[in-house]
Amino acid sequence: MIEEDLLSLLGLCQRAANETRAALASLRDWGPLGDSGSHKDQYKADLVADQAALQILREAGLRVLSEESGWTGPPAEREKTLSKSAGGWELVAVLDPLDGSTNAARGIPFYALSICILGKPPDQGQSPWVPLVGFVEDLVRGTRWQALANGQATCNGQTIKCSSCENLDQALVSLTGDPGPARGWRQMRSLGSAALELCLVAQGSLDAFSCAGSFSLAPWDYLAGLLVCLQAGCSWATLDSSDPFFLGEKARSQLCVAANKGLLGGLTGVLGA
Ligand code: IPD
Ligand code: CA
Repeated sequence: MIEEDLLSLLGLCQRAANETRAALASLRDWGPLGDSGSHKDQYKADLVADQAALQILREAGLRVLSEESGWTGPPAEREKTLSKSAGGWELVAVLDPLDGSTNAARGIPFYALSICILGKPPDQGQSPWVPLVGFVEDLVRGTRWQALANGQATCNGQTIKCSSCENLDQALVSLTGDPGPARGWRQMRSLGSAALELCLVAQGSLDAFSCAGSFSLAPWDYLAGLLVCLQAGCSWATLDSSDPFFLGEKARSQLCVAANKGLLGGLTGVLGA
């Protein structure tokens, strides 16, 4: 897919973020939906954010897989804003309109919108989805992390690179799930928004991010952040041998991302056991 088309998809993500931010700005009650929610720990803010982002993505003709609204859009619809030279790629946007919604509902200022657009070249129905565009926006500070499949990862327009930390005993590691006793890292965090934690690995603030214990993440939690990490030079593995690019409402992955293969090996060694 040509650069112009990727940039057009990135523009869509930016518009979706603008609309989401505007919708949340006028929302007073961000609290839990309780029994009226469609899943555990769903909040009013999740639905408001979903409606705003979904509208932009769907107007552009994209099929969407969202944490809050599942699959929407016809299966094989092509992205209408693309130039003819895009050659009819099949596209899907994987959306978490509010990653870190428990943080958001409790006034912890660490949550984000996350969109990954993935594609399949024409006539390759059974081939795997390829991540094309990764976009994460910190909805508190407005920081934007972006990556295109053929380009560098950026934070607010500046190129970012992961850290050079290779040894677990020097690493600042962020985890989701319960790791049990300390496993030899220098320090650990658990911050409550996988999308943002991955972006912090991509820019070298954290050295690694991983699931721990039996905990796994959904594609909408990690796909955009994972592409940002990949384009910033990180390495990844899954502790459960799952394919993180497999899409489905029930797809889950025990993802582990680190600044390089050495650190990844150290971390999977202690977490995979
Ligand atoms: C959550 C965050 C969190 C992770 C949870 C996710 P949500 O996303 O990414 O870091 O530990 O498993 O569900 O539900 O706030 O969008
Ligand atoms: Ca969410």
